[in-house]
Parts: sequence; C-alpha cells; structure tokens
Amino acid sequence: MVKRVVVTSPLPGDAVAELGRRFELEQCVRHQQRDEAGLIELISSADAVLTLLEDSVTRGVLDACPHLKVVANCAVGFDNVDVEAARERGVWVTNTPDVLTGATADLTLALILAVTRRVVEADTFLRAGRFERWAPDLLLGSGLEGKTLGIVGLGRIGSAVARRAAAFGMRVVYTGRQPRDERAAALGVEPAPVFLPLDQLLEQADVVSLHCPLTAQTRHLLDARRLRKMRPGATLINTSRGPLIDEDALVTALEQGVLAGAGLDVYEHEPRVDPGLLERKDVVLLPHIGSATLETRAAMAGLAVRCIIDVLEGREPPTPVVRGRLDRREPTSGPG
Ligand code: NDP
Ligand code: DGY
Repeated sequence: MVKRVVVTSPLPGDAVAELGRRFELEQCVRHQQRDEAGLIELISSADAVLTLLEDSVTRGVLDACPHLKVVANCAVGFDNVDVEAARERGVWVTNTPDVLTGATADLTLALILAVTRRVVEADTFLRAGRFERWAPDLLLGSGLEGKTLGIVGLGRIGSAVARRAAAFGMRVVYTGRQPRDERAAALGVEPAPVFLPLDQLLEQADVVSLHCPLTAQTRHLLDARRLRKMRPGATLINTSRGPLIDEDALVTALEQGVLAGAGLDVYEHEPRVDPGLLERKDVVLLPHIGSATLETRAAMAGLAVRCIIDVLEGREPPTPVVRGRLDRREPTSGPG
C-alpha cells in the first residue's frame, strides 16, 4: 500500500517534492496553528508527518494516529513532541541538528551586538529625524573586547557562539549539567572556556547567552532569584527557547535596572510577547528567526525529508531523537 505523508506547512527549497514522487503526499499550503483536534484531523491516517515546532505532537495525537511511523520535526529542538509517548509506541522522532548551528550562532552574535551597541535604538533615533550631528556622548554602548560571555549549554550552537565571541576578544565561560572540558578544549579558543556552576557564571558574565533545550529541568532556569544573581549591567541573550526565562521576572529585572538589556529571539508564551518588553528600548526582540536563512531552512527541510524517506523505506534515519520500529520492506519506487 502507498504510504501517506503529511507536511504541516509550506517549506523553503524543493526537498518536499521528493516525498511526492515516492509517497502519497499532502502538503499544507499555509502556516496554521492547530489545536490537538486539528492536528489529529490532519494526520490521523498518515504514516509520516513533517512537523514544525508549533505542532504539538502530544500523547493524544499519537494515540489517534495508529499508522504513524515517524515524526520528522523541522527543528533541532523537539520540545513540541511527547518523546516518551513516541518511544512507547515505537514511533521514530527525528530532528534537524547541525545544519542550523552556524545560522543560529550568527544571529546570537547579531543580538549581542545589537543590544550592547544599541543598534535598533540608534536606527529608530535616526529615522525619527533626531540625528543632528556627531556627538561624543551620543548613544554610547559597551564594547565586547575583554568582557566575559557566559554560555549556558556548550552544545553545538553554544560552541559555535563561543568561537565567534572569542574572535571578538571575549573571555568565555560555560555551564551545563556537567563539565565538558574536552569539548571546551577542542573549540580552539584561547583560553579554553572554563566550566562554572550556573550561579557563579551569572555572577561573572557580562553577557549571558542561553543555548540549552527546553526540558522539565530548564523551564524557568532563569527565574527571579537567578536574574538577581546576574552582574549589574549585564546583558541576557536567548536564542534557545522562551520558557527558559521567567518573562515576568525579566521585565522586573529590567525595570529595576539589574540588567542593562536583553536580546530575545524566543518567548515564554510565543508568539505573544510580554507588553512590558515591547515598550523597552534596552531590549531587542526578534520573531524566532535564529535559523532563518534560505540556505539553512532548505537544508533543514532536506534533512527532515531524508528522515521520512529512510524510515518509510526501512532504513535508519540520519538524525534520530527517538528510535522507533523499522519495517524492513522493499524501498518504494522513485529516484534515489
Ligand atoms: P545541543 O544538544 O547540541 O546543545 C544543548 C546543550 O544544552 C547541551 O550541550 C547540554 O549540555 C546543555 N543542557 C542540557 N540540559 C541542560 C541543563 N539542564 N542545564 C544546562 N545545560 C543543559 O543543542 P543545539 O546547540 O543544537 O540547540 C540548542 C537549542 O537551541 C535547541 O534545543 C533549540 O531549542 C534552540 N534553537 C533555537 C533556534 C532559534 O531559531 N532561535 C534555532 C536552533 C536551535 P550538557 O549535556 O553538558 O548539560
Ligand atoms: C529549532 O531548530 O529548534 C528552532 O527553534 C527553529 O530553527
């Protein structure tokens, strides 16, 4: 029987067409936030689904999709998928690591520079017709050279940010569930980033940048107490997941002048942004565009498509998060 694949959204690049050559393909023509019932209606008869991070693949969804063999998430983060429920049902879950590391690290540096050099505020100032002359004290920011960057989560993206920050003359420290000395040494950064417990990192870093996944352990990792631990005048950057920060507590910390500013690509209640953030000049807010280059998004789609083809044709996919069951039958026809 021909396998059925659902792609929940349009995607850049032409990778999805290959699914149409091999399987029965339903590709949604526009982005849409769906509730559980809506997602079930769309994928209940599917063998594979290519999801975005706004698709919540809950236990209820998996229960209602008895044919489902693979959930291929077009993102490296997979907090939108109930991985335990997938594991119990033998459903593969795959993600798109590596191909987006450089783009997300670049955007992290863009946010660091935008906040510390007041780039957005300066642009707004000029467009408002307020640029009358060069002045020694106009829109002063703070430099990066010699400052300390604290990376929370020295994984793929955290490591790429460390390398970039070192090129700007920053000293790098990091935290995580345990020291990763070999990884830190292999970065080629001098001196090699030093491991610190989170509270110590917050006390030392001029810029703190979050790069760990959203899990039960990392939700509100930066709560009111931890935000108060940050150095006076420090900058907080988040390009990982919004719920890592207690957003109300962040607004309070900014209001009280504990932090000099923040650069955010992700939000606790995405796509809603706390009005207390929207009105602040010392905050740069981006609409979750960490991986948003054409090349990267096409590569992410290509990897997710590869994962679906491999599972449905009985092969191990390249980037499994949960290993499911493999049905080792003859490959479907179509170009390799
Ligand atoms: P990795 O898995 O390579 O790195 C994540 C790191 O987080 C690991 O090295 C791990 O280190 C650390 N970590 C895990 N749990 C904890 C914890 N409880 N406390 C502190 N550190 C922890 O992932 P990537 O670097 O590829 O991606 C990171 C995240 O970035 C993704 O999960 C995703 O949510 C987000 N992302 C956002 C994008 C955007 O568009 N804004 C784009 C791409 C990714 P250790 O094991 O040492 O604890
Ligand atoms: C991810 O990959 O986790 C991002 O949030 C989207 O690129």
